[in-house]
Amino acid sequence: MNARRALVAANWKMNGSRAANDAWLSEFAARKAGLACEVVVCAPYVYLEQLQHALQRDQIGAQDASAHEAGAYTGDIAAQMLYDAGCGWVIVGHSERRQWHGETDAIVAQKAERALQAGLQPIVCIGETLQQREAGKTNAVLRAQLAAVLQRIGAERLARGALAYEPVWAIGTGRTATPEQAQGVHVALRAQIGIDDSAAGRAVRILYGGSVKPANAAELFEQPDIDGGLIGGASLIARDFVAICAATHT
Ligand code: PGA
Repeated sequence: MNARRALVAANWKMNGSRAANDAWLSEFAARKAGLACEVVVCAPYVYLEQLQHALQRDQIGAQDASAHEAGAYTGDIAAQMLYDAGCGWVIVGHSERRQWHGETDAIVAQKAERALQAGLQPIVCIGETLQQREAGKTNAVLRAQLAAVLQRIGAERLARGALAYEPVWAIGTGRTATPEQAQGVHVALRAQIGIDDSAAGRAVRILYGGSVKPANAAELFEQPDIDGGLIGGASLIARDFVAICAATHT
């Protein structure tokens, strides 16, 4: 029996407008009845307040937070400000941050710690690139990315948020890891967390992300160690996002 409650997070990335978000929120409200999973919507900073009209704190997330507490970091947003603005969650270490903003494993770990200190639940993203997969380095890369976070915050605090496995080659490409591939990775990640703290290993939710769609969500979520998803492209259409949420097995 899997006692973990499924979690599905929308990652809108740099998409949306006030009008489009309002339409999304109305459609979501009209369709969400009966969903058993936990839902989080991660919107661009400037729209976080707009989400508060329709969602609770524990359903609102940001897509990044600074590794610093406060000060002279022009353009950055502190985790505490996100909490202050009504957020309950924040994504850290998304591969697009790692790739376009040079975020290292150490920075990602620091961001996760700041998020927890501010009262936010971090969704910590890890994943291998196609090049790393083809070089047979998938396990080593994931192990190192996770180890950096565990070293800094420990397994118990990681389990207060969630871990997201997002193979970089599957993000926005239409290529998904097979359910068996993803399940195999999730088992290995859970075992690594369990070495640190066995209860946390059992409790931590591990999400899969990378081209999840209504058509492939059920077969992914059926896997015993896939506890939900981090949804990019398909989350922009409320109907598709709700269909993905409805495919969770809780
Ligand atoms: P995708 O993105 O669903 O568009 O592949 C997932 C993500 O980057 O979180």
